[in-house]
Amino acid sequence: MPTHVHDTHYAFDNGAPEAVPQLRALESFLDPITARRIAPPVLTPGGACWEVGAGGGSVARSLARAVGPGGRVVATDLDTAHLTPGGNLDVRRHDVRTDPPPGDAFDLIHARLVLLHLPERRRVLASLAGALAPGGWLVVEEFDCTVPLRVLTAPSDDAAKLFAQVTDAMLDILQSHGADLAWAQDVHGELVAAGLVEVDTVTHAQSWPAGSLGASLYGTNSRQLEPELLDAGVSPGQLEAFRRLLRDPKFAVMSYQFVSTRGRRPATP
Ligand SMILES: C[S@@+](CC[C@H](N)C(=O)[O-])C[C@H]1O[C@@H](n2cnc3c(N)ncnc32)[C@H](O)[C@@H]1O
Repeated sequence: MPTHVHDTHYAFDNGAPEAVPQLRALESFLDPITARRIAPPVLTPGGACWEVGAGGGSVARSLARAVGPGGRVVATDLDTAHLTPGGNLDVRRHDVRTDPPPGDAFDLIHARLVLLHLPERRRVLASLAGALAPGGWLVVEEFDCTVPLRVLTAPSDDAAKLFAQVTDAMLDILQSHGADLAWAQDVHGELVAAGLVEVDTVTHAQSWPAGSLGASLYGTNSRQLEPELLDAGVSPGQLEAFRRLLRDPKFAVMSYQFVSTRGRRPATP
């Protein structure tokens, strides 16, 4: 449980220098999985798409390529610093908690690692489902942060314990900002409750060896959350040892479980 409650603003800062490697690492791990989930017939040339909380923008750019000049993509985020509009790709600053959807007839809406952070996630999900065209797809992808991060190899038991201590403290901080660590497992039921059909879920996890882009995510997250980690009692020496561990060839860990759920608005009411 969190030691103290912060505001419920998104915990990471897209404007921080660590945001670029953080978003790149996420994209390199997740984009191939997402690409399989939104491949045709989910994504079709000429379609209208909304990429929610687009972050570094890689998914929005590939959607724009896939729908072609006859289609359009709206990429929205609280912070659009890493998003560039052009051609059929529109970029808008947008708070998905409070702003109305940027359209009401999307053939595909994709939200990855966004709703998990938002206390209003259930209401937001219902509004995303309501912005689908008949037959349109909603794809929601999240980390299930309830699964313990299994350390596969470590130079010592103490190193493995340190990894668990720092990563648990980071999850506590995300929770104190309003994240629901178990939300990934609720999405399937929420899509069914929203009236979507053909709902399906797949889960992916893989090993992240030291030095991999995946393992680097733990390091960039720890830099982004450093002031709050120090507040929570993690010492500067422990943070340094944690980041060294992520580059130690004797260290490997399992990734978070990535849960991808999609469903479709019935083509006829
Ligand atoms: C962990 S990043 C994921 C980025 C991207 N979806 C991906 O998977 O590569 C979460 C993104 O959601 C955005 N975000 C957070 N709260 C938001 C809100 N209320 N409305 C819109 N975007 C939000 C953040 O700015 C950030 O870009």
